[in-house]
Amino acid sequence: MTAPALPDEPTAAGPAAPVLALDGLSVVLAARGREATILDGVSLALTPGETVALVGESGAGKTVLALAVMGLLPDGMRVTGGRIVLGGTDLLGASASALRGARGGAMAMIFQDPQSSLHPAFRVGAQVAEAIRTHQAGVSKADASAQAVELLRRVGIPQADARARDYPHQMSGGMRQRVMIAMAIANRPRLLIADEATTALDVTVQAQVLEVLKTAQQETGAAMLVVTHDLGVVASVADRVVVMYAGRIAESGPVDTVLTEPAHPYTRGLLAAVPRLDEAAPVQAIPGQPPSPFARPSGCAFRTRCPLADERCEAEDPVLVAFGADAGHAVACHHAGGPA
Ligand SMILES: Nc1ncnc2c1ncn2[C@@H]1O[C@H](COP(=O)(O)OP(=O)(O)OP(=O)(O)O)[C@@H](O)[C@H]1O
Ligand SMILES: [Mg+2]
Repeated sequence: MTAPALPDEPTAAGPAAPVLALDGLSVVLAARGREATILDGVSLALTPGETVALVGESGAGKTVLALAVMGLLPDGMRVTGGRIVLGGTDLLGASASALRGARGGAMAMIFQDPQSSLHPAFRVGAQVAEAIRTHQAGVSKADASAQAVELLRRVGIPQADARARDYPHQMSGGMRQRVMIAMAIANRPRLLIADEATTALDVTVQAQVLEVLKTAQQETGAAMLVVTHDLGVVASVADRVVVMYAGRIAESGPVDTVLTEPAHPYTRGLLAAVPRLDEAAPVQAIPGQPPSPFARPSGCAFRTRCPLADERCEAEDPVLVAFGADAGHAVACHHAGGPA
């Protein structure tokens, strides 16, 4: 099993080729005889070493996007359009075995709940070693075990040698999440996806695990897609942010731009809903709920909750276009940058 070929590091010839490129990705869910669009023409690219945060309320399609990339869409969902290209290889056209080789090899995902990805009956060191041997032919058991301990040490597990012999239930949530990170970076992936990887942890541990993730990424030069509800996480780890609403990109751009000068009313709403220690202003939740994918409003999907909505928003679906002076800032809104 060989992983798809991946691009080389950046050359003097120009910017690095993207590690991951999604081009117009659409995913549909078929349920109870009906179909609903879950992802609608999502395009984004990650360059080597770059961290992109994917944010948006529950149900926006963040996890579905991550699972589509990993080739792990749930039953009933299928890709109906677009391309997913990992290091020049079209994953949608790849064979099942090539995809299995890429998963845990060239790309790795860390989930919110390490319980679901760690086997309860095997020692954590053995599980990391197994991840190495699955993807690196010819590594002996002894070498894989030694490498596993070294990885556990690198993600900050104290007494890694001894802890490698722990079963998952003997570890705290934060330590288990570190094991997951060790496993994810074991084969030096070019793409790391972390889906709410720190959400279940308490705040201090969250910060530590994020730091470990960031360091691991820097050491491996991987591109990283961080799915999170937490705009604090975005500010501390990401270079760029992609805001999703109802299966589409509402706004994307450099973190500094999007967090300080959000142009989409939805992004502004998300930011206004974040409690801040330095401000007395009360937190304002966005009124209403995101639409069900089975009952998407006409025009702009956010218009039913938007303070700026007018007839045009009802009639015409806004497309994502470049906005303002900052390179890479794009917004899908007829009133982008309008009165806050
Ligand atoms: N296994 C599934 N079967 C059917 N529908 C699903 C499944 N998983 C997700 N969906 C639907 O797909 C849409 C996108 O869900 P997704 O899990 O990607 O949201 P999310 O942005 O990750 O939300 P959260 O922040 O809650 O994790 C939602 O409408 C959700 O109900
Ligand atoms: Mg999710």
